[in-house]
Amino acid sequence: MLDESKFEEHFKLWALRIPCPQCKAATRILNGYLLDKPRVKPVTEDPSCPKSRYLVLSEKVRSQDLSEIPEEKLDELKGLCEFEVLPYSLTLGYSYWSADQVLKQILPPGVEKNYPRIKTIVNKVGTITNEFRVPEFEVLAGEHDMITEVKQYGATFKLDYSLVYWNSRLEHEHRRLVSQFRAGETICDMFAGVGPFAIPAAQKGCIVYANDLNPDSINYLGVNAKINKVGDRIFLYNMDARKFMSQMMEVPSSEIKLESNVPILETCETCKIQDHTDLNSENERLTGHSVNSSVENPQSSGSVTNAATSLIAVKRSSSSSHEENENVHGTGIIECGGTEGSTNKRKRDSQISNTKTTHISDTKTWEHIDHVIMNLPASAIQFLDAFRGLIRRKYWKGPLPWIHCYCFIRATETPESIIANAESALNAHIQDSIFHKVRDVAPNKAMFCLSFRLPEACFVEDNTILDDATV
Ligand SMILES: C[S@@+](CC[C@H](N)C(=O)[O-])C[C@H]1O[C@@H](n2cnc3c(N)ncnc32)[C@H](O)[C@@H]1O
Repeated sequence: MLDESKFEEHFKLWALRIPCPQCKAATRILNGYLLDKPRVKPVTEDPSCPKSRYLVLSEKVRSQDLSEIPEEKLDELKGLCEFEVLPYSLTLGYSYWSADQVLKQILPPGVEKNYPRIKTIVNKVGTITNEFRVPEFEVLAGEHDMITEVKQYGATFKLDYSLVYWNSRLEHEHRRLVSQFRAGETICDMFAGVGPFAIPAAQKGCIVYANDLNPDSINYLGVNAKINKVGDRIFLYNMDARKFMSQMMEVPSSEIKLESNVPILETCETCKIQDHTDLNSENERLTGHSVNSSVENPQSSGSVTNAATSLIAVKRSSSSSHEENENVHGTGIIECGGTEGSTNKRKRDSQISNTKTTHISDTKTWEHIDHVIMNLPASAIQFLDAFRGLIRRKYWKGPLPWIHCYCFIRATETPESIIANAESALNAHIQDSIFHKVRDVAPNKAMFCLSFRLPEACFVEDNTILDDATV
């Protein structure tokens, strides 16, 4: 395994504490004498005072009296404002170095470009700003082809680096979180990517509802579900995460009608859902104790719904399939393979039945979910508002789900301030939260996983809902 500590470099530097309003002018004056390293800003927060900033000086300024900086510049700076000179330590760790710098370090000289399994060497450029969190890469050597296969703890992931998010540095975190799940549990992954949480969770015997806004991520997640033979335990969705959660918790009107004494037969006939024997045999394959039977049937595939559909019952095909035979239909269902006849029959069924939410497994997400994963650290906390008034107490069984919400914490923030943001998004008090540090992403910024049980205050009481049964 790669020893990441070998890539750490420590710098002993000097920094000037400058009042915020004068920072811009001071930066101009000190041009040529400020820290000059790619992706490291020379202006950083002052951890002791929000009204000032640190201007980190370059390595060529070695003494505290700043004698390496020309006198006229220092005079101009002194005329601008009062400032303090402080020692400043900077550590650049493994995550700082580019792929080609790392490769140069770990591969013998000259081997990088010829190593038989390395077809392409890329360098990540710029910062990620797009919604799908897809980084931009420059090809340093080899083929201009970004499709690859990576392995994480026994699972294989096929992906196109130019279309989807992937970060191998999260491998330990994927493993850590999934180690908390147990076979038979129900998991909702709101920002699933190509499946680094979803696939190992399904391999463990969990039922996984996986969503991502990026259609390419969901396509690859379908491919990966098949490669790893867990297609029958993963349900795929391609929509905004808030909408996904609200669909997960939507109680189907068939359930509500059942309570108002409408016969089962009538309800199902109205919806044209497959007959009960069919659904039940499918359910058996998906419950905890019968997970093994799905392993015996490796070619069954998952189903995908997207924003264009309301949740649709799609029975999975158990016939042979080609790995990348995804097919986007008019209804927005993406079939992950299957023989023409059976697939088309099911597509017709699902088009007819697309008015009602039906889940194939006997897991009913509006009754119980064990864990929700939210790995979109830049904004997942804001997405917690998705849980306001979402879960109907009347239908829910057992404890509320654990929420695993990833976030960044900057030097100016604290776990308490993050909890306050989370509580305000939820509009509820969080008890007994757990912060787990995932990794440093920049000198003053770290990624954390905030885990907590969804507060009871998030329940919605049924007397506040005007449901189909009462109108
Ligand atoms: C940081 S990646 C995490 C992917 C994966 N869970 C992992 O650990 O590698 C965040 C994912 O969220 C998706 N995403 C961004 N905005 C979204 C939204 N509003 N709703 C659903 N997914 C979204 C992106 O396409 C991306 O795949």
